[in-house]
Amino acid sequence: MKTLFDCVNLGKLRLKNRLIRSATWEALADESGHMKEELFETYERLAAGGVGAIITGFTSVSGDDHYFGGMARLSDDELIAEHRRLTDTLHKHGCPVIAQLALGEYNGAHRNMTPDSMSAADIAAVKDRFVSAAGRAVQAGYDGVQIHAAHGFFLSRFISPAFNHRNDEYGGSAENRARLIVEILRGIAADFPSLHLTMKINGSDFIYGGLTPDDCAAVCRLCEANGLESVEISGNGTSVPGIRPGVNEAYFREFAAPIAGQLSIPVILVGGHRSPDCMERVLNETGIEFLSLSRPLVREPDLPRRWKSGDRSPSRCVSCNACYSTPGHRCVFLR
Ligand SMILES: Cc1cc2nc3c(=O)[nH]c(=O)nc-3n(C[C@H](O)[C@H](O)[C@H](O)COP(=O)(O)O)c2cc1C
Repeated sequence: MKTLFDCVNLGKLRLKNRLIRSATWEALADESGHMKEELFETYERLAAGGVGAIITGFTSVSGDDHYFGGMARLSDDELIAEHRRLTDTLHKHGCPVIAQLALGEYNGAHRNMTPDSMSAADIAAVKDRFVSAAGRAVQAGYDGVQIHAAHGFFLSRFISPAFNHRNDEYGGSAENRARLIVEILRGIAADFPSLHLTMKINGSDFIYGGLTPDDCAAVCRLCEANGLESVEISGNGTSVPGIRPGVNEAYFREFAAPIAGQLSIPVILVGGHRSPDCMERVLNETGIEFLSLSRPLVREPDLPRRWKSGDRSPSRCVSCNACYSTPGHRCVFLR
């Protein structure tokens, strides 16, 4: 019988529970990626709140990626010291921290290049940016990195048949579309074996001609064979509004559960976790090992501590998504 508060391993990391903070972009960095004081405070509140591990918000691997504002970066050595301050702060609370390495847009010959318009040199440049950023993550004291291949950002588009129409070894079959991610994983696993290596991916793109559940499972199996140590299953339209406990929680479960049955590495399920009862049903009725949360921890950074103390009432998050548009992506009900 699995419970939320089992002390378990996520690959090489030891977690005090099965609750993970899913990546949540705070928009609290400047254009160069320097982090504002409020960002450190936000993360310290989360770590003190008892979550088992934290995945940082979108952290771009590229200095010229301006897909949206305020993103943190690991694109330059001069940013390492700030990230070290962040990891030191979270480690004082016994909380492992994983950097979400991401690319919104790739700007090579022109802005926001598509998978189809990239040369072999462009593809190699993307791989190098991810592997170099992972190296900076090691120097900054991160326990792991998460490759962001979900939600329609660059890597998500690259593996999606709706966006990738290449007819070389990087296009066509799932194996070919996943080749860039596999090369990134192999590069990181070879050069930085101390890092826990995870990935966030869409269980389905939910768009015509996009990544299907079968495609996703094929990509995950390939990644597992090439160094991936856990995978977080999400989907496009990630933050579904209006989640009600007991009604429409855990909304990507049907995509993640079959994948968990096909992999040996732990599967993390994100999306709509609001009540401990539903979450423990997911753990015990499927092979899913970890549950990750975003908006409930924006509303209550100390939610894991509250649940552990015996108050198992559902998250107070009403899934209004107003946090997407507040400064620092704070909850409107906390003002
Ligand atoms: C304000 C906000 C920022 C987010 N930023 C990221 C991000 O940087 N990277 C990412 O993979 N997902 C991001 N997400 C999506 C969440 O990680 C999560 O997948 C989604 O909100 C569903 O989980 P929830 O129901 O626990 O909120 C963000 C969500 C919110 C509300």
